[in-house]
Amino acid sequence: MRELKLFAPGPVNTTATVKKAASIPDLCHRRSDFEDIIRETGELIKELFNAGEEYLPLILTGSGTASNEAVYSSLCSNEDTILLINNGEFGGRLKEIMDTYKLTYVELEYKWGGYPKVEDISKAIRENPSIGIISMVFQETSTGMINPVEKVAEICRENDLLFFIDGISAVGGEYIDVRKQGIDVLTGVPNKAIGGLPGVSFVLMHTKLRKRIEKNNPKNIYLNLKKFVDFKLRNNQTPNTPGVNAINAFCQSLKEWKEEGRDVRLSRYRENAGIIRNCLKKANLKLLIEDESICSNTVTSVFLPKHIETNEFLDAMEDRGFVFYEGKGPLLEQKMIQIANMGNITKDDCHEMCDVLRDVLENTFGYSG
Ligand SMILES: Cc1ncc(COP(=O)(O)O)c(C=O)c1O
Repeated sequence: MRELKLFAPGPVNTTATVKKAASIPDLCHRRSDFEDIIRETGELIKELFNAGEEYLPLILTGSGTASNEAVYSSLCSNEDTILLINNGEFGGRLKEIMDTYKLTYVELEYKWGGYPKVEDISKAIRENPSIGIISMVFQETSTGMINPVEKVAEICRENDLLFFIDGISAVGGEYIDVRKQGIDVLTGVPNKAIGGLPGVSFVLMHTKLRKRIEKNNPKNIYLNLKKFVDFKLRNNQTPNTPGVNAINAFCQSLKEWKEEGRDVRLSRYRENAGIIRNCLKKANLKLLIEDESICSNTVTSVFLPKHIETNEFLDAMEDRGFVFYEGKGPLLEQKMIQIANMGNITKDDCHEMCDVLRDVLENTFGYSG
């Protein structure tokens, strides 16, 4: 199989040491060697997001959606009204989970790429006193927008509301501090900006929520967080057979994240995103989000010239060794593509990709800006 550079928002290119960590000797998940891995992975998750002893890290075998579904099905009941802030594909996916579990919610819906307004949120809370939880995506991956987490956290604090964050594409790539940002529940995956492999995900939840889980009638079996909490606290295990190898690789990716250091990793991502955006701007391509202050460190959304077919362009780039994403929903119709810089991507990789992109635009598609 050929080696590709994955400039896509997950799965991502990983280091040789992360890949190696997935091929450890065969391991029984009911013995202490595996319990050590769960314990260490959990401690690293807590450290990465500045969670103290008041938070519990739970590792699920299943992609990010599994963790999101576990959160809403285990922690919400019809006694709660959730305020959902939805401004893209992944806000919409949270809504789908709420609909599936017949949860009560009020939706603040913005167009894709629309920035949530504090006044709208405050108004929704005034008009719906039963709201007990605010929920949103940290980084709306379908656009590359960073939502106003700190402002919403302040509203949660003032109104004594819980704050649930889907951090799937933000963890490891954006500044996240669950204590400072007042996040009660954070979900994430290794296989994006943390630089791990796909197949597992995590829920980092405040222990004050344990009472809610106890009270709630189970709505499913595999995703019931009560079981995850019980097994974690009893002996660092998981209720069912976990993806042992992917979890060990997750642990390794967290160690590498820690070794590189938060500031260095985040500035590497920001710098690489800058290289990509400068190249796109020089080619006179339009970015979806121009405002740097609300723009992701790792995801860039850009519109192709009208005469270029999206799939033909993506195929031409893949032929040259570089993988991008096509846009989703209404943005795909507008020929938007996404170029990410998560995981094991260097500055040189970004420059090389940009050279190829310019060449493909000019020489394959006759576009010179
Ligand atoms: C913000 C966000 N939430 C949820 C998901 C769904 O995650 P998964 O595909 O791992 O289930 C994604 C996937 O990209 C995402 O970016």
